Amino acid sequence: MSTSPIPEIQTHVDAGVMTLTLNRLERKNSITADMYGAMADALESANHDTAVRVVVIQGHETIFSAGNDIGDFLNRPPATPDAPVFRFLRGISSFPKPIVASVCGPAVGIGTTLLLHCDLVYAGDNAAFSMPFVNLGLCPEAGSSFLAPLLMGHARAAEALLLGEPFLAEAALEMGLANRIVPPAEANALAQRQALKLAAKPLSALMETKRLMKKGNAAMVAERIAEEAVSFGRMLQEPASREAFTAFMEKRKPDFSGL
Ligand code: COA
Repeated sequence: MSTSPIPEIQTHVDAGVMTLTLNRLERKNSITADMYGAMADALESANHDTAVRVVVIQGHETIFSAGNDIGDFLNRPPATPDAPVFRFLRGISSFPKPIVASVCGPAVGIGTTLLLHCDLVYAGDNAAFSMPFVNLGLCPEAGSSFLAPLLMGHARAAEALLLGEPFLAEAALEMGLANRIVPPAEANALAQRQALKLAAKPLSALMETKRLMKKGNAAMVAERIAEEAVSFGRMLQEPASREAFTAFMEKRKPDFSGL
């Protein structure tokens, strides 16, 4: 059953699996406030709907997501804790049922950090992960300042978060961010097959196992997401990020001299 409130987020429920598809290809699946709102609502409904046992998040075989919509950062920056992006982050980070992701092509910013809250990640061999927050005059979000060093160690997290350098599917597999690498045309189908396997298992056992697996870090993740959100919100108003976003819109290199 398809119940998409906006065309940029396709929502489909079948056989216990809710599939959320990022569908804004002309803007490289960059995510607007309305899209965060739709995803937050979908997760909330999946949480309470006993017909949904597993959620799949996927993009297109050429692009997962170019991250936050940069025009939105300039014109409609998230200002309060109930902003759609923060609702989405709270929803995905505390989601009690399994989440499976299929990632092909670039996964920029939140396109990578949301994966830190997924349980199974299947990557196309063209996947390229990046968290270029510093390059945009920003700090990490989605708890990634805590979860990335925990997952990959400080040195590799510093390359990803301080230098903002991308890493490819092989590195994601090796560090445990991705479960398997497949040809891009096969990634979404593999994610569906794995989700269907999960959906056939007893939901109470899945949920209790996920809760226990995440219990050790749950409070720290929630606290860090909130702290990052305060810094991120402030930095969105500062000259470095304004210069970075304006440069992106004007298709030029940013000039951070003096900032
Ligand atoms: N927000 C708004 N628009 C975006 C966008 C974003 N995050 N990412 C891409 N777009 C737009 C581009 O401006 C371009 O618009 P145009 O056709 O009007 O010129 C269109 O989407 C296609 O993007 P383009 O850069 O030409 O595609 P590409 O295949 O060469 O590169 C990316 C793809 C994802 C590598 C590149 O678009 C990119 O780096 N985007 C910005 C990522 C970013 O910094 N996100 C913020 C993270 S916090």
